Amino acid sequence: MQMTIAIIGAGNVGGTLGRRIAASGEAVYFGVPGPAKYARLATEIGAGTKVGSVAEAVAAADIAILAVPYGAALETVRSVGDWHGRILVDATNPIAPGLAGLTVGTTSSGAEEIARAARNARVVKAFNTTGYDNMARPQYPGGAVFMPVCGDDPQARTRVLALVTRIGFDAVDCGPLSAARYLEPFAMTWIHLALRQGLGRDFAFGLLRR
Ligand SMILES: NC(=O)c1ccc[n+]([C@@H]2O[C@H](COP(=O)([O-])OP(=O)(O)OC[C@H]3O[C@@H](n4cnc5c(N)ncnc54)[C@H](OP(=O)(O)O)[C@@H]3O)[C@@H](O)[C@H]2O)c1
Repeated sequence: MQMTIAIIGAGNVGGTLGRRIAASGEAVYFGVPGPAKYARLATEIGAGTKVGSVAEAVAAADIAILAVPYGAALETVRSVGDWHGRILVDATNPIAPGLAGLTVGTTSSGAEEIARAARNARVVKAFNTTGYDNMARPQYPGGAVFMPVCGDDPQARTRVLALVTRIGFDAVDCGPLSAARYLEPFAMTWIHLALRQGLGRDFAFGLLRR
């Protein structure tokens, strides 16, 4: 049965995931503060893609993906009120201004702070560890882009792993949400190499197996 996936934020990450998810056959509903700005994106994607307020998109969804700047994340998830057990996929990174590092870490993570703010949501971390260009094209000659997924609810994690796999990643189960304490610094490794060390955005991490 077709699922409805709410995507909160329709910028680089939200817009790219929206295209991939709609192409995979699921219904996409963007939730943004100013829906009119993204009406054209929804039309371009087609396949019945909708755009509305954050509350409208979440209310219609089985799974919601959070793709807003971390500075807006806690307020955005609180604005929903009760999540009624919905799955909330956190794609954000709590990056300090000027890419100076992370503002949360080691004893907590952005994902755990979001879980505390999103009442009765089942929070799963995914899509934070690579650039949006790799979300558009997750296949490399050497294989699919590595995409670690973690969250405390096993059923929610399994559903997100399936979605991540369906849109072309090598989805890997990383266990509990506290593993986001490792996944957010891991995202900084990609960002550091891409933007500071001159590798550019056309590379990705893959998992080698024997
Ligand atoms: N860029 C990447 O390659 C990448 C990769 C992995 C993870 N991430 C993480 O993903 C998140 C989004 O990054 P991005 O590059 O997609 O950012 P972006 O292009 O700036 O897009 C942000 C989106 O969030 C919306 N937004 C802002 N405040 C909001 C609010 N209060 N409620 C709902 N929507 C709101 C914006 O709407 P308006 O246009 O109306 O402001 C916009 O659609 C960040 O946390 C980032 O760290 C980014």
